[in-house]
Amino acid sequence: MSRFAGKRVLATGVASGVGKATAELFVAEGAEVVGIDVTPGDHHVCDLTDFGATQELVGSLGAFDVVLNIAGIVMLQHLADITLESWHKQLDVNLTAPFVVSQAALPGLLERRGNIVNVSSVAGVRGQAYSAAYCASKAGLLMLTKSMALELSQKGVRVNCVCPGGIDTPLVAEAARTMPQGLDERLMQRLYNVLPPGFSQPTEIAEAIAYLASDAARSVTGTALSIDGGIVS
Ligand SMILES: NC(=O)c1ccc[n+]([C@@H]2O[C@H](COP(=O)([O-])OP(=O)(O)OC[C@H]3O[C@@H](n4cnc5c(N)ncnc54)[C@H](O)[C@@H]3O)[C@@H](O)[C@H]2O)c1
Repeated sequence: MSRFAGKRVLATGVASGVGKATAELFVAEGAEVVGIDVTPGDHHVCDLTDFGATQELVGSLGAFDVVLNIAGIVMLQHLADITLESWHKQLDVNLTAPFVVSQAALPGLLERRGNIVNVSSVAGVRGQAYSAAYCASKAGLLMLTKSMALELSQKGVRVNCVCPGGIDTPLVAEAARTMPQGLDERLMQRLYNVLPPGFSQPTEIAEAIAYLASDAARSVTGTALSIDGGIVS
């Protein structure tokens, strides 16, 4: 398939996990993918929480048909231990950066009647212990998606998001490595994608993103597509 032949795609978080798998899929399907990540690599290196630099970079890259806000972070913490610094960091990367990137890319998207896909999470539609800032950021991203979709619906720009459960990526490994002490195991179970087939692979999320970004989804906007084995059903 060449669903994205001739399309210009901007993707964040391309150095790892879902972003890397998604960039590879879009390239395989004919897209020119322009990547951004804070981790050095064969893409634009930019910290998305430097909002001025992000606006400037995105504004300098030309018009896009598709914008994929994939970069994200999670810090598992007891409520009492969430500092304002870690609260802001998670909100900045997971919510404010997608807004900044999308707004900066909007003139080109309007010109090309393009679309945006945001990566939210099951954490955006239900509560999870030890993840208050992450849940708040992902719920915010879901509502940003719906608000933008409605406002842009008459202008030919679609906005959707995916809500994955657990995915087998370095983000999960890092969260496990930095897990705080004294967690209630019963509450922790809710953090995992416990129903078969268990943790998703990044390629599965990439496929869902590609569907939403493709012409096959031309009537789909403001939707949150769950990829979670049914845990939020
Ligand atoms: N892994 C999961 O279980 C899971 C579940 C649901 C949703 N998600 C979401 O999927 C998305 C991708 O996560 P992943 O699991 O592939 O994680 P990952 O850690 O493998 O990849 C995240 C990427 O984002 C980049 N990034 C982080 N902070 C950045 C910043 N300030 N500026 C620029 N780039 C930055 C990282 O360098 C990394 O390349 C995230 O939004 C995450 O919240 C992940």
